[in-house]
Amino acid sequence: MKAAQNATTGITGGYRILVVDDDPHMLATFERILGNADGLARPSEIRDPLNDAASKPLSTGVLFEIDAVLRGEDAVRVVRQGLEDGFPFSLVFMDLKLPGGIDGVEAMKDLWGVDPRIQVVLCTGVIDLPWEDLVAEINLRDNLLVIKKPFDEIEVLQAAYSMTCKWYLQKSVETQLSALEHRVEARSRALAEANEKLRAEIKEREKMETELRLAHKLEAIGQLAAGIAHEINTPTQYVSDNTQFLKDSFDTMVKMLRQTRDVIQGIQSGSVAPEAGAQKWFEMFEEADLDFIIDECPTAIDQSLDGLGRIAKIVRAMKEFSHPGSEQKTATDLNRALETTITVARNEWKYVAEVETDFDEELPLVDCHPGDINQVFLNIIVNAAHAIAAKRGENPEEKGRIHVVTRRLDDECEVRIEDNGPGIAEAHKQKIFNPFFTTKKLGKGTGQGLALVHAVIENHGGFIAVDSEEGRGTAFILRLPLGHGMAKG
Ligand SMILES: Nc1ncnc2c1ncn2[C@@H]1O[C@H](COP(=O)(O)OP(=O)(O)OP(=O)(O)O)[C@@H](O)[C@H]1O
Ligand SMILES: [Mg+2]
Repeated sequence: MKAAQNATTGITGGYRILVVDDDPHMLATFERILGNADGLARPSEIRDPLNDAASKPLSTGVLFEIDAVLRGEDAVRVVRQGLEDGFPFSLVFMDLKLPGGIDGVEAMKDLWGVDPRIQVVLCTGVIDLPWEDLVAEINLRDNLLVIKKPFDEIEVLQAAYSMTCKWYLQKSVETQLSALEHRVEARSRALAEANEKLRAEIKEREKMETELRLAHKLEAIGQLAAGIAHEINTPTQYVSDNTQFLKDSFDTMVKMLRQTRDVIQGIQSGSVAPEAGAQKWFEMFEEADLDFIIDECPTAIDQSLDGLGRIAKIVRAMKEFSHPGSEQKTATDLNRALETTITVARNEWKYVAEVETDFDEELPLVDCHPGDINQVFLNIIVNAAHAIAAKRGENPEEKGRIHVVTRRLDDECEVRIEDNGPGIAEAHKQKIFNPFFTTKKLGKGTGQGLALVHAVIENHGGFIAVDSEEGRGTAFILRLPLGHGMAKG
């Protein structure tokens, strides 16, 4: 503690006490009573001797450090200064009757305005102020004690001890509370940080899952690419052949028209006889084989349009299939998504199976990530084709059957993809959704297809089940909640 020097009294000591009194006799009394308060411990030194090894005995030392001022205004100034110096007063002995502008009660109120913690002992004469009036005046606080003059020394000492001790305890409770608040704050901060970290990790995991899904999708598109190229190549071939035929036919017809013009001009000018002209025209008609051209051109045009239509359908399906994964779910037509997937996967199934669809035309739109859902359908359809091929060989006499059905349930859509392949062995049924479980040869399957299917359906809050019997075939049943998808039409 910094020692304070008081010009008026010259008293120095421990807890700071301010005496506000204009009577030199009273000042001397306070100095005598409080200035020699030896043989007592300061509250800060009182420790629990049972629990604290470093506990000291109640030490001796001057407990109080006393300053004195004569006027209420000075008291307020000195208390403010003490706070600013970091060496605050704990207790004020305040005479009720003071010289100068404000009396003891006013000064006391001002003091609490400066330092609400400060303890005050108000010293009144017998007839100074009735207690009720005082209570009404100062809005009684618990850091106030009133003693009446003339007082005993022991009264002053007791008041000084208990009020400074109270001041100290109040302060240390506040310190502990604030330390506790800091600890709670630190804990909350640590918790918030841990939460934030967890959130970041979840986000990172979701990102990785999305990337994995995208990688699998790209891989699937890569694998489908050869088949799709073949699917596009066939119609391209006959569109090209037909276009060549139309070009040749057009050239022949143009040549024929020009020759016709020459014959007619000859007849008009009289250099060719009409009969000879007509004869010539029929010869040219025969030579150009115009009957054939007239018969075949419409077919060639129809076939070309059909081929272009098929190419356009495959390209559109590819585009729809590789729909860029958006963060937002989209209202999606599952019938169309299935149609698209069946088209892009055609080369995977067309040699071993027929695909039959039985779509609910009233199927509402479903809120989903269409890219992921296409991926789900693709994996199940390709699995079905592989299963049928494994049972019947790659080029079977009689093709297998993949049956795709959609139905609306109450607030869900159901998709059922069924094959008449070999079925799934009882021992494998529990494992097919496990990542990397495969019964296929090395290089043919990675065992990720159904794991991905499961993750996507779960992510959509949907449901997936498998109904399979060895020798009969397998059905995958998916249910997706409609979400905010709007009814079609
Ligand atoms: N329709 C089905 N009929 C019979 N067995 C099936 C069928 N669908 C899946 N299975 C079995 O489930 C296993 C796991 O399928 P999944 O799609 O997860 O992996 P995969 O097809 O082996 O490899 P990937 O899809 O990664 O190329 C398959 O290896 C197969 O044994
Ligand atoms: Mg698979």
